[in-house]
Amino acid sequence: SCDSGWPGALGQPLSQLVAAVGLSAIICIALWQARHTGTGVGDFAEFVAALLLLTSRLRHLSDLAAPVTRALVIADGCFDLLDARKELDSGGRELAGPTHGDISIEAVTLTYPGASQPALDGLSLSFPAGRTTALVGASGAGKSSIIHLLLGFGRPEAGRICLDGVDIETLTRLSLRRQFAVVSQDIVLFDESIAHNIAYAQPRDEARLEAALRAAHLWDFVQRLPEGVETPIGANGSKLSGGQRQRLAIARALY
Ligand SMILES: Nc1ncnc2c1ncn2[C@@H]1O[C@H](COP(=O)(O)OP(=O)(O)OP(=O)(O)O)[C@@H](O)[C@H]1O
Ligand SMILES: [Mg+2]
Repeated sequence: SCDSGWPGALGQPLSQLVAAVGLSAIICIALWQARHTGTGVGDFAEFVAALLLLTSRLRHLSDLAAPVTRALVIADGCFDLLDARKELDSGGRELAGPTHGDISIEAVTLTYPGASQPALDGLSLSFPAGRTTALVGASGAGKSSIIHLLLGFGRPEAGRICLDGVDIETLTRLSLRRQFAVVSQDIVLFDESIAHNIAYAQPRDEARLEAALRAAHLWDFVQRLPEGVETPIGANGSKLSGGQRQRLAIARALY
């Protein structure tokens, strides 16, 4: 809003100034002409009246400055998004349907660019299917880094990660990420309705929506809202409490 605010604030006085200067110049020329070519008083008055009518219209042009700059800022963001490089698939294999869910991490090493030490150093772990596994460790120990690799956002320098015995490097990103639902440390919500925030990536289904909201302990809260699941939640969920935002992210993951 800072970007789009200043042309709006500057536009009005600037256009007034240009109009005033222009008007004085034209009147001076008209007076000079009247003296030298002998134009009558009637002609002169007609001319000035037309000029005044025109400038009052022109002044409204400055009202366009704010919306036009706002649109330019938005267009800039859209073009950045369009220009973003497409994420390349490391493999072309597609997984058919949901996987069983055995995850094994084999001697994985990951060093972030510019870091002096690896974040993960020869780590081997296995997450058996059907079991709830918690990773507990000091802040900065590398828990999020494991998830980062598991979802294919980065590649290990050494070792490999397998999902049901298949190296995830051989899968398409889309096929890999369809297998996961993530509630991350920082939640991203859209300035849209509750229903849209939960079902945006998949076709909408009212029964599944209710089930996800119930499982995330949000259903009673949603029922009390005047617009129910259609209630807009504000930019990044600003109309919700911290816990409600977190539970909305859980409902999205469960959907
Ligand atoms: N994008 C990055 N670029 C460079 N270094 C990073 C990056 N992300 C994490 N690190 C480093 O990698 C190490 C592991 O970070 P990670 O985010 O995996 O920790 P964590 O166990 O999830 O911590 P927390 O419990 O605080 O969330 C940290 O030392 C961190 O400084
Ligand atoms: Mg973390």
